[in-house]
Amino acid sequence: MSDAVVTVGPVAHGGHCVARLDGQVVFVRHALPGEVVEIRVTERSKRFLRADAVQVLEPSPDRVTPPCPLAGPGLCGGCDFQHVSEEGQLTLLTDVVREQLQRLAGLDWDGRVEAVGPLLDWRTRVVWSVAENGMAGLRRHRSHDVIPVESCPIAHPDIPDVSRQLWDEPRVETIASSTGQRLLVTDASIEDDLEAQVDGVVASDGTVRAGTGTLVEEVRGRRFSVSGSGFWQVHPAAATTLVEAVLAGADVRPDDRVLDLYAGAGLFSAFLAEACAPGELVSVEGNRRASADARGNLAELPNASIVHAPVERALRRGLLGARADVVVLDPPRTGAKEAVPAIAALEPRRIVYVACDPAALARDLATFATLGYRLESLRGFALFPMTHHVECVAVLARA
Ligand SMILES: C[S@@+](CC[C@H](N)C(=O)[O-])C[C@H]1O[C@@H](n2cnc3c(N)ncnc32)[C@H](O)[C@@H]1O
Repeated sequence: MSDAVVTVGPVAHGGHCVARLDGQVVFVRHALPGEVVEIRVTERSKRFLRADAVQVLEPSPDRVTPPCPLAGPGLCGGCDFQHVSEEGQLTLLTDVVREQLQRLAGLDWDGRVEAVGPLLDWRTRVVWSVAENGMAGLRRHRSHDVIPVESCPIAHPDIPDVSRQLWDEPRVETIASSTGQRLLVTDASIEDDLEAQVDGVVASDGTVRAGTGTLVEEVRGRRFSVSGSGFWQVHPAAATTLVEAVLAGADVRPDDRVLDLYAGAGLFSAFLAEACAPGELVSVEGNRRASADARGNLAELPNASIVHAPVERALRRGLLGARADVVVLDPPRTGAKEAVPAIAALEPRRIVYVACDPAALARDLATFATLGYRLESLRGFALFPMTHHVECVAVLARA
């Protein structure tokens, strides 16, 4: 489509920066604030345009050469910030969190997103798409096209190599655990040599074809079983980083009653149960297999109980009791809009909100504020380097 030259404005949530072209807003990828770039418009809607920076006329000091040859205009959509230095990425993420909190919750945040480990070799779970010719790859940005990928520089080196054979399924997931196991999640038949390299093969319907289909993860000396492609934190440092941030923010006292909502396989629950003993920890998870994993992972903690139900329904039906001293929640990207009023009604002393989308977090913090909860602290973690994703841990206290 058309080419034009623009001066790039601030970063916006979603992995792009804002510019203006003939009075219209343009979301420009592969650019940095302050740069002068030539853009190619890739999409037009009534309200805005999308574009790629195809040539940089005046570069930002934060610009670097992308380590991945497939990062750039029209190429792999997996990363957003391969062209940005590490400090530059932290600044972009910080600006996004600050802007979302200000605009959606009226909160002024003067923190800075924290670096966590290296920019490359971190992704312990990769979902590959399969092209019509059977080759595994990653999707082009905002497209169903699959770009063949032999190796992805952000993928953990222990991830099984899926590039050397043809697949007859639309997607293949590869996982490497913190204890060195390798798992493949697919329905497709796999070649003997690849099967020999992995510790388990799980069909996407959950049936196990080889190995146990369960990974063992280790965090602060504690072991967790996670089945198949059940949820686990993706960055190798994420589980420990978040457990420490949650424990510090929750400030749990012995004898507290603590709820861990959207608890997955019980990562936070295990440490919270230890902290509140002899008080009670209730771990709530909606996914059947994750909930079963949590039951096993928390079996040795006599003060922990597991509720397998959607959080909103469990709260609505009073299954989680009438009060709680501390509530931890780690919802999916959509946030916890429906659950927020019911959580506040339990009148917890503290609420720790772990969020992977700062927009949903800011929206929910605004609601909590109307229900008497003020933001005490907020930390941001760059747990998805090279991408626009950022994890936040917000601590709320009763006003
Ligand atoms: C971001 S993960 C967090 C898991 C856990 N805190 C951890 O760090 O491993 C969100 C979890 O919420 C679960 N989930 C999603 N929607 C839910 C709902 N409405 N009710 C209960 N659990 C839900 C998902 O299955 C997933 O395990």
